[in-house]
Amino acid sequence: MAYPQLLSWYRQNKRTLPFRGVQDPYAIWVSEIMLQQTRTETVAGYYLRFLSRFPDVAALAGASEQEVLKLWEGLGYYSRARNLHRAARLILSEHNGRFPRTYEAVRALPGIGDYTAAAICSIAYRLPYTAIDGNLTRVISRVHDIQEDVGIPSVQRRIRQLAEENIDRQNPGDWNQALMDIGASICVPGTPDCARCPLRDQCEAYRQDDADLLPVRAAAKPPLPGDVGVALITCGGHILLQQRDAAMLRGLWVFVLNEGNNTREGMEKKLKSMGMRALFSADLGDARHVFTHRIWNMRLYHFTAPAAAPVKGGRWVDAEALAALPLPTAMKTARQLAMELLKEE
Ligand code: ADE
Repeated sequence: MAYPQLLSWYRQNKRTLPFRGVQDPYAIWVSEIMLQQTRTETVAGYYLRFLSRFPDVAALAGASEQEVLKLWEGLGYYSRARNLHRAARLILSEHNGRFPRTYEAVRALPGIGDYTAAAICSIAYRLPYTAIDGNLTRVISRVHDIQEDVGIPSVQRRIRQLAEENIDRQNPGDWNQALMDIGASICVPGTPDCARCPLRDQCEAYRQDDADLLPVRAAAKPPLPGDVGVALITCGGHILLQQRDAAMLRGLWVFVLNEGNNTREGMEKKLKSMGMRALFSADLGDARHVFTHRIWNMRLYHFTAPAAAPVKGGRWVDAEALAALPLPTAMKTARQLAMELLKEE
């Protein structure tokens, strides 16, 4: 093992996180899915609530997808929640309810890629798989002073090979998590805190004084901005929601949206095309939400409808149901305004 200080550093300095010290593969799975693309501080509360409502695979498999999405509300990347739920049902039907024990069987579950399968198997089963995410890529590219673009597959293979050569085969879970913690708190993007780093003696980038320039990575495409009109259509203490069936935010509930156009005229046309009779009442201002690949520049409008007529994929809900259904964070401002409108009606 070429990182001799790593595990003793980890034992003394590991972050206290609610999923640390856990052996149950189901709980580790839930935490690792939540930790994909999401900060550990954000995950902690969601993880505890999720585990207390769904303590095991059977509890999760027995829930409705809507309930799972509600507990996921605000975490984003909702396909993670849908896949988790689908995988729980598969574990029940194909693995007798027991979480699979091999890397291949874990990797085959929906929503689990190389990284997540390695994290689960190394932590829960002590299998020597390296969990290579953005943090490990950064740390390893610096320790070994890799100057090539880490987006290139051959460079990724080299990083994987270096990780595999250096993993501690007795404690692969601690080894992976030690590197994750170093990546999150010491070997951070930009200016790393090398003075505190247990890998400094082995770190080639430290020796060359170029850690701040690594890893080399082609710039990500910035998210694409788009206009979205949002209609809050009320009728007698109820408001109209629609359930998304597009891949983005599928299964979540939104107000009536006009994607591509946020003007009042555009929204009036859209409502007409839906066969909705609704009367413009007020401009409710702007809201903006930044997704990974998209920005929604929203303008919000209040309309009143003379009747709560049925709408395809839609549901007229009262304030209580509006609070209970899963809505994406992009609808946060709109939901607050809607609550106020319903209070006034
Ligand atoms: N990021 C993803 N999984 C993690 C873990 N187990 N510990 C710390 N950070 C992580």
